Amino acid sequence: MTQGTSQEPDPHGKQVPQHIAVIMDGNGRWAKRRGLPRYAGHPVGVEAVRRIVEACVERGISVLTLFAFSSENWRRPQKEVSLIMDLFIRSLKKEARRLHRNGVKLRVIGDRKAFSDTLQRQIHEVESLTEGNTGLTLQVAANYGGQWDIVQAARRLAQRVHEGDLLPEQISESLFDETLSFPDLPNPDLFIRTGGEKRISNFLLWQCAYTELYFTDILWPDFDSAALDAALADFSNRQRRFGRTGDQVRDQAEAS
Ligand code: IPE
Ligand code: IPE
Ligand code: MG
Repeated sequence: MTQGTSQEPDPHGKQVPQHIAVIMDGNGRWAKRRGLPRYAGHPVGVEAVRRIVEACVERGISVLTLFAFSSENWRRPQKEVSLIMDLFIRSLKKEARRLHRNGVKLRVIGDRKAFSDTLQRQIHEVESLTEGNTGLTLQVAANYGGQWDIVQAARRLAQRVHEGDLLPEQISESLFDETLSFPDLPNPDLFIRTGGEKRISNFLLWQCAYTELYFTDILWPDFDSAALDAALADFSNRQRRFGRTGDQVRDQAEAS
């Protein structure tokens, strides 16, 4: 997607993001602080997902991308990984109708081939059920890695070159962008990471080139609509320059 065109002013003149991407971090610490095993935080994290999806629907956000499971999270203890997978299947089953009712279009991005047949089938069912919806697009990044996304795009372009369908010099930023996981959606305007860490952890690497970054110490299970509004308020005060000067951006805004 072309950078620099995706944020939209709301009727009060405030800048609102079209696409929000979230690293939902802190489930384990949330549980441990309560003397519970760390995986007990994940089901509570799912409740926060439900809250934030509804808050985004109410606020008219177009796209929400949630990082649910990274390509590196397989390195966790086997028990935690399998509990997360079970929870994923159960949540998709349980939430499908509610999402559909709310006009949400659900998509999963990431390498789904690593998932069990049951999980792959469940993903396919919810995606098919909701594909005609025109409200919020909810992208769940599962077995997703920013490096994986770049490599799978490079591989597909290399294949086209190999087949004689493309010349290397025709590979441009926009063609590359179109070969990544969500060519039809704008790149994130706002990136939120909960849980206090200030890193990207192999989330959307290419797509966050000009995304505004927001970090909060709130642990994901505690993240609510007020916390989302705080992030939106912070975003509304950012000046997005995309390489231009602040004066240029101000003059352009005054002229429009
Ligand atoms: C994020 O919470 C959820 C997943 C990565 C699946 P964590 O489980 O990473 O929670 P912390 O960071 O250990 O507290
Ligand atoms: C990032 O959180 C992945 C998800 C939230 C799914 P992690 O907890 O895995 O990140 P690191 O390991 O602390 O960087
Ligand atoms: Mg973590």
